[in-house]
Amino acid sequence: MTTVSNTQNSSIGTREAAFSKLQEHFEQARHLKMRDLFAQDKERFQRFSLQFEDVLLDYSKNLISSETMTLLLELARASNVESWRDRMFHGEKINDTEHRAVLHVALRNRSDNPINIDGEDVMPAVRSVIAHMSEFAGRVRSGDWTGYTGERITDVVNVGIGGSDLGPKMVYEALKPYRHSATKAHFISNIDGAHTEEILEELNPETTLFVVSSKTFTTQETITNANTARSWFLASAGDEAHIAKHFVAVSTNREAVIEFGIDPENMFEFWDWVGGRYSLWSAIGLSIMILVGEENFTALLDGAHAMDNHFATAPLGQNMPVILAMLGVWHNNFFGAETHAILPYDHYLRSLPMYLEQADMESNGKSVDRDGHHVNYNTGPIVWGATGINGQHAFYQLIHQGTKMIPADFIASIQTHSKLKLQHDIMMSNFFAQTEALMRGRTLEETCAAIEASGLNVDDVRDRLPHMVFEGNHPSNTILLNKLTPYSLGLLVALYEHKIFVQGIVWNLNSYDQWGVELGKQLAKQILDEIESADTSAPHDSSTHNLISYYLKRRQQRAEKRDG
Ligand code: F6P
Repeated sequence: MTTVSNTQNSSIGTREAAFSKLQEHFEQARHLKMRDLFAQDKERFQRFSLQFEDVLLDYSKNLISSETMTLLLELARASNVESWRDRMFHGEKINDTEHRAVLHVALRNRSDNPINIDGEDVMPAVRSVIAHMSEFAGRVRSGDWTGYTGERITDVVNVGIGGSDLGPKMVYEALKPYRHSATKAHFISNIDGAHTEEILEELNPETTLFVVSSKTFTTQETITNANTARSWFLASAGDEAHIAKHFVAVSTNREAVIEFGIDPENMFEFWDWVGGRYSLWSAIGLSIMILVGEENFTALLDGAHAMDNHFATAPLGQNMPVILAMLGVWHNNFFGAETHAILPYDHYLRSLPMYLEQADMESNGKSVDRDGHHVNYNTGPIVWGATGINGQHAFYQLIHQGTKMIPADFIASIQTHSKLKLQHDIMMSNFFAQTEALMRGRTLEETCAAIEASGLNVDDVRDRLPHMVFEGNHPSNTILLNKLTPYSLGLLVALYEHKIFVQGIVWNLNSYDQWGVELGKQLAKQILDEIESADTSAPHDSSTHNLISYYLKRRQQRAEKRDG
């Protein structure tokens, strides 16, 4: 068990006290058996489930009692979750290491209420960019925006990485049933040339639109890939004047966009108060809007806005993001769970785990708190996952019978977009069965009964018995949507964003910077110079030095062989 302590936060006393109370409570709660809890309390589902609009959250299959939840909510209160939440919604610069507000909620503020930063309402600028996006997306979708030969655009390529890729890609995949039938989407992110080559070889420059998406417009991978796309395009189009028809940019960095050669008329702006991993609601969603249309994009914003309102106003005990967050704290800081699995039973949500990996781990993967102190407690979990049904045939064994606690979110929709209803019923039966199996396990008696029911004699397979018993008692949340629509996807993604926010507050972190990714980027730049000049004299540790030298030597040998 790990505990929260060192902090100079003003609420230190109550926060520590709340943690201590939870620690004491944990000593008994660690022995809870969910089977017994369900047997003792017929109302357990009603007690520990919550519905908000299209989203049902059942959190009854967790190692919790009413007292646990009371104490977890006390911790949330003592961590000042409510006042930090209000500070975020009011445009305060809660990203203190970068002196920035955190206002992705403004991007989907569908009300008439202003949201100010330094006394200036950001909403007119937000609305103006949405209008610009709508006008442009509408023209591409209708065929009015044509390529340099007058052909309609048939392929949209988002070139970006991290939040400038994962969000648009995840949403596009999730909303595929809503896509424009005449337009295909592609996503280039990897600096491995194979990614760009594979995509470009499918495309016709006359009918392709590149959306270069980068908040900073300095990200090496994105700018390099965009330059490759530009050269590929010019090899056919010839005249640089045609670039304007085929390249648009989404960025906060106007100068760099102009320098790249994109007409600023075709630049879609956003702002430093939008974090990369929270940016799909901004102009970074341009490719989404082109592919699914303005109406569906705004429905996505509407859903997120509804979740924002819920988060901003619901009492903590009925506040879905708060509940999810505090359950995560319970697993992470008391049971010592290292990871958290995201398991969508929905083909269209197959990229959600990857999206949430960045959203959560880049936000709360920190070991220094807001006051600059090293923490002595666990912060963000390792988030991972895959579509549940495939996972069942791959890694679920470890969740069921391994030695680690792996709390998991099971996500599915009641209505499917697929016409294959039998498949949906099979999938949903597995969806329900897995959380039940994880919770119940199978006792020795039940195992013996199952063996006999299968026609075998228990005595003949006695040596297998210990392997066939499941201890169960594994925690999970079930999130059930009515249907995966733009609106419900907005609800779902905003739910996770706010969960991450709450956990960041409880752990006293700034969830909105990402200094940890910088060092590798800097070193890579230096090493690129060394590789390009084949100069191995720069100081490195012996491992890195020898690896670079080995690479260069082998590359040289290969080149000599090739040249004859
Ligand atoms: O390196 C991490 C990161 O800065 C992410 O936070 C961000 O989403 C990604 O790179 C891409 O950044 P940009 O949109 O500026 O190209």
